[in-house]
Amino acid sequence: MKRIKSLVFAAFLASATLICCQPATTTDSQSAERPPMIGDTTLRAALFVDPHSFSTPEATVTHLEWDAKVDFEAQEIHATAVWTLSETHGDQVVFDTKALEIKEVLLDGQEAQWSFGKEDDLLGSALVVYDLSPASKQVAITYTTTEGAEAVQWFPAALTQGKRMPFLFTQSQAILARTWIPCQDRPGVRFTYNASVQVPEGMLALMSASNPTQKAADGKYEFTMPQPIPSYLMALGAGDLEFIALGERSGVYAEPEMVRNAAFEFGQTEKMIEKAEELYGPYYWGRYDMLVLPPSFPFGGMENPRLTFLTPTVIVGDLSLVSLIAHELAHSWSGNLVTNGTWNDFWLNEGFTVYFEMRIMERVYGPDFSDMLVALSYDDLQKELADMLENDPEATILKQNLAGKNPDDGVNAIAYDKGFHFLKLCEQTVGRDSWDAFIKGYFEKYRFKTMVTEQFLQELAQLLTQDQWDAIGVDQWVYGKGLPVNCPFPASNRFFIVDEAVKMMLSTAPEATDAKQLCYPDFQTTKFWSTHEWLRYIRGLEAGGATVGHYALADENYGFSGSPNPEIVAAWFSAILKTNYEGYDPAIYAKTVEEFLLKVGRRKFIVPMYESMLQGDEKRKQWAREIYEKARPSYHPLSQGTLDALFASHA
Ligand code: BES
Ligand code: ZN
Repeated sequence: MKRIKSLVFAAFLASATLICCQPATTTDSQSAERPPMIGDTTLRAALFVDPHSFSTPEATVTHLEWDAKVDFEAQEIHATAVWTLSETHGDQVVFDTKALEIKEVLLDGQEAQWSFGKEDDLLGSALVVYDLSPASKQVAITYTTTEGAEAVQWFPAALTQGKRMPFLFTQSQAILARTWIPCQDRPGVRFTYNASVQVPEGMLALMSASNPTQKAADGKYEFTMPQPIPSYLMALGAGDLEFIALGERSGVYAEPEMVRNAAFEFGQTEKMIEKAEELYGPYYWGRYDMLVLPPSFPFGGMENPRLTFLTPTVIVGDLSLVSLIAHELAHSWSGNLVTNGTWNDFWLNEGFTVYFEMRIMERVYGPDFSDMLVALSYDDLQKELADMLENDPEATILKQNLAGKNPDDGVNAIAYDKGFHFLKLCEQTVGRDSWDAFIKGYFEKYRFKTMVTEQFLQELAQLLTQDQWDAIGVDQWVYGKGLPVNCPFPASNRFFIVDEAVKMMLSTAPEATDAKQLCYPDFQTTKFWSTHEWLRYIRGLEAGGATVGHYALADENYGFSGSPNPEIVAAWFSAILKTNYEGYDPAIYAKTVEEFLLKVGRRKFIVPMYESMLQGDEKRKQWAREIYEKARPSYHPLSQGTLDALFASHA
């Protein structure tokens, strides 16, 4: 009965949001009034209704004491989560759980009255603790994770670089924290935490908290996170790890085989932190360290506070892919400090972060460099938009409605690149000085708080005049589909040269005897090309309709098929896997593709590669299926999910 009441309450708020607070999408952006301040508390609460958590505002948590033992043999975590309740609360508290085996629930040390709600494939089940009194303080949940812990990826020693010890990492964003900790798994609830974690002797354990730099002989580690964070930023990593300091407040952890290369690649981190602070105010998290994960990590990076998790695929030796660090560091403000209220507001996390990332890159590497990144972001957006407008136009709206869907569906170029370009247009409209003062003030005002789109627009309305609001077409940008025509068009000096080189290649007849020289921009030009120029070049060939002959010629000139840079290899294979070009040696080519897909799990790389193969003939499709069958077990559940759907749509 109690449970029904809270669900009805949630449904009411959800409909209130729809009726009262969402400006209708309008094609006439000139007529939209800037939004007034939301005074009504019921309406304000409605904006924060989270469709991806069972927990309710009736009782929230403020602190976690987590005591855990990591069992690598059984691949289980045995733990007790002791949650402190907020001082005022109702008579029940609801936690999210998924695939957890609950052993015991105590309310202030006494056996609690509790039950599981109905199980949902996506959301798991609510764990409801009843009979709270106003004086109730703590709920302690003892549990074990199971095979269904989608957040946890376990690696036997054989799959690590050093092959000496097993390895583990977690990935909680967006709604997977509940698979390894019973929690109020919504970005709108923040808590501080302390943890005590036992791992096998000889191993180092790390969390999104204060971290050790040395191994403890007994494998027992203590952590504290004094700043309140949402559950999706809970993170744990453990393995044979070593630490190298990069500066006063930054350093890198990796397996011993990798840690020196990582320290070299990320050598600019301290400078990035300084520049970021100069732009948008103090870094509130104490240290900024990084943990390099195995190549199956599904993302480029994950902004776990104090300890960013990173793919090793950016360690390419020439420092060219460090915008990833700028991105994850920027999340220390946009995301970790001011957090998206629900996953429908995900663009507030990612669009802001891409914007901030570009500003850091501009400061550290100069505008010519950051202009390339902006142009690539624009290309990504155009590429994804075309597809989405055809198949799912609603998905091109910044403010999403992901109720009933996996928040992972919202992880696309809209949140990142449309979000970024919208903010860039705002900057251009008001000028950098006003814009920067506004953003800095915004981070300060809302630090350690949550933000929803509507509230951000109210802040923006304080900055923009009605004329500016209309000129931008704010409502159209935020609630409209597609990309408004006033999207700033990126210009890049360095890409201008690349685009000329692409034209040179495409206007060359590959069969001409002197083709190799004709299409080749001189070495003085390409000598200084970064990864980004090569990406633009490969994409340019693809977009310009390169033939198999052109690809062969490009490969002969630049050796793409054998590049040691995973970013280039992935772009290259994504381009050629849908053609009949099979590399300079088909056997080597096939082996390289297979090895790459078996080793690397970064979704941004492998999804386009499989997509490309699935566009080929039946033989190519069959090849894709065979590789996926072999590779699937080594991919993270998030990558598996995306790829299962991709293969199902090509069945
Ligand atoms: N927080 C994201 C990764 C993420 C998003 C995980 C949604 C789970 C759900 C991270 O900051 C990110 O954006 N990573 C990008 C980096 C890139 C844009 C520089 C990635 O992994 O590709
Ligand atoms: Zn991000």
